[in-house]
Amino acid sequence: MTKIHRHPDPDSLAQATAEFMQAAILERVKQVGRAHVVLAGGSTPRSTYQYLGRLLAQSELAAGSLEFYWGDERCVPLDDPASNFRLASESLLAPLPAGTFEAHPIECGGNAPAAAETYEGLLRLAFPSAARPRFDLVLLGLGDDGHTASLFPGSPWLAEAERWVAAEHVDELRAWRVSLTPPAINAARTVVFLVQGEAKADAVRQVMRAAHDPVRRPAQIVEPLDGELHWFLDEAAASRL
Ligand code: 6PG
Repeated sequence: MTKIHRHPDPDSLAQATAEFMQAAILERVKQVGRAHVVLAGGSTPRSTYQYLGRLLAQSELAAGSLEFYWGDERCVPLDDPASNFRLASESLLAPLPAGTFEAHPIECGGNAPAAAETYEGLLRLAFPSAARPRFDLVLLGLGDDGHTASLFPGSPWLAEAERWVAAEHVDELRAWRVSLTPPAINAARTVVFLVQGEAKADAVRQVMRAAHDPVRRPAQIVEPLDGELHWFLDEAAASRL
């Protein structure tokens, strides 16, 4: 099931996305006592995280209710301004009562392949004897080149069928990245793309309407096997649909 949610502007988009995420999280916590949530990086999610942090802080969650993971990370210190962990830590996690959550950052200081191995090991402990990690919610962004997480056009990891976490030197960025792989993303119960701005409108159109070619448009690889796919867009990002 794929659903598109269109909102007039970035602020209403952020608020609606946060409310959707809160509902999905609280439903899962009510069902099984815990929610496993994968967070996106980049700049778009900041205001959504601020809303979501306030909503979850008011949700009277029991200790240990939330497990946060990252869909990808830049190989920088966790307190670096470019860190996806730092983005979520200072916006979403900051207002949450201590003990409510456990954060599992991707620690990729200097050796990305080793960091990917380590993170995969962490996930396999979190989802023991599972063929895939069944995250309750995965939040993703979209690059203007159609990348998502750190799966960039032409990445060999787009064809990965077994590994859950990958490391790749992204030549156009001249930087190492660590990312969840398609199998890890597509095993989720709910996947949410959060995209805003005119600059992404063409990428949104390409991913949604152009021929299926994930090597050129990596976000097209996201097709939850047994889950829901939601696109949260502002009108600017949806303007070419
Ligand atoms: C990252 C992200 C990446 C991001 C998109 C959109 O580490 O950069 O995970 O996939 O979501 O590049 O980034 P913006 O929100 O900054 O446009």
